[in-house]
Amino acid sequence: MSRSAHPAGPRHADVLPEGHYSAPPADLNRLDPKVWARTVERNAQGVVTVGGRGVDELAEEFGTPAYFLDESDFRARCRAWADAFGSDADVFYAGKAFLSRAIVRWLKEEGLNLDVCSGGELTTALDAGMPAERIAFHGNNKSEDEIRRAVSVGVGRIVLDSFQEIVRVAHIAESLGKRQRVQIRVTVGVEAHTHEFIATAHEDQKFGIALAGGQAAEAVRRALRLDGLELIGIHSHIGSQIFDMAGFEVSARRVVQLLAEVRDEHGVELPEIDLGGGLGIAYTSDDDPREPHHIAKALTEIVTRECEAAGLRTPRISVEPGRAIVGPTAFTLYRVGTVKPLEGLRTYVSVDGGMSDNIRTALYDAEYSVSLVSRTSDAEPMLSRVVGKHCESGDIVVKDAFLPSDLAPGDLIAVPATGAYCRSMASNYNHALRPPVVAVSDGEARVIVRRETEEDLLRLDVG
Ligand code: LLP
Repeated sequence: MSRSAHPAGPRHADVLPEGHYSAPPADLNRLDPKVWARTVERNAQGVVTVGGRGVDELAEEFGTPAYFLDESDFRARCRAWADAFGSDADVFYAGKAFLSRAIVRWLKEEGLNLDVCSGGELTTALDAGMPAERIAFHGNNKSEDEIRRAVSVGVGRIVLDSFQEIVRVAHIAESLGKRQRVQIRVTVGVEAHTHEFIATAHEDQKFGIALAGGQAAEAVRRALRLDGLELIGIHSHIGSQIFDMAGFEVSARRVVQLLAEVRDEHGVELPEIDLGGGLGIAYTSDDDPREPHHIAKALTEIVTRECEAAGLRTPRISVEPGRAIVGPTAFTLYRVGTVKPLEGLRTYVSVDGGMSDNIRTALYDAEYSVSLVSRTSDAEPMLSRVVGKHCESGDIVVKDAFLPSDLAPGDLIAVPATGAYCRSMASNYNHALRPPVVAVSDGEARVIVRRETEEDLLRLDVG
């Protein structure tokens, strides 16, 4: 296909329109290791490779759009989290970020536990051999059927989310002749997002039972009374894409205060606390996430200090990172279809996927970066918006990013850090076929979730 430059595309910082971008990077061909999976690099021909495989041959073999997941990076991140917390704590991977049988097997092999929040995730976990006792079952409205299955197979814990659920789980467990290990999810009045946290008035949401007004203490009282439940601890989750530990600090302090109240009232020291997930990753070069060992150290110190102050034995800590494990390990590969420069604005680059494979930009105004990966280019930077092929003007994958001005139909571009909440939130909008997930490692690529087909669409349509 032809490669022609687009002189009408806006280029220079002094004439750029307003947007979410900083100045063009000094070298558009450079791949920032912060946002790319560990084995990603450019080969001598300028083609980007992952696990030793070039994106040009991967696109030929698996088609586009497709997610390519660096298996060795995924495993290394699992190990880094497990090692950072050591044997005194438990790491539960949050399956909602992305779950498949292969992922479950890798988690199992690398010693992680798994947090599931639906019957579908539970089925996937069990089918791939995750021992039930290593599974935590979440959700604010678990069905009776889901609860019955979770209790019957013997999940390690069910996280209770409401007063009704305390009774529901207890009854089901008793009817099955079991005593189910449970935690109570509390709302600590802290909401943290990215670099900020707010420590007041965030009880206004559907999850958990508020610490405020003694609600959580009442939930503990009721749970302790029920024979079908073994209350093992308190759970809190304060938000997503968090970089600042201050929110966790306030949350841990409030949870420990509840543990102290429980001890004073019931003479019971609950043995576990779970601080949830939400640890941030780098989507663009502007983000600076912390390493797992920093996070582990900070969280452990906070809990230990608060427990010492309250005269409590330090409970066993667990965490539930999803994004921080799988997010950075994958990128989405697209083929450019059209390049449309808009004078004085930006160049619209249309790719063969879109909001059906990455809804996060449309839904959360999420920021991503993008690179030309099938070749290098010395052309000038061109302010671009990467858009999909859906019938919707909000179908944006990357809002503002610089691509080389000689970008042309047929080029391959890739969006890094799409391992979390992209395939798992993918849709069939416009009857799009959800892309495959291809695991790449040591020169080998294999499909772990296959591409949807038109037959799949028609099979569901039984009218
Ligand atoms: N634990 C609980 C109880 C959660 O609710 C969540 C996420 C996690 C752990 C994992 O959080 P992570 O470490 O992955 O941030 N779809 C949104 C994220 C929603 C997260 C919901 N709960 C996104 O694409 O950003």
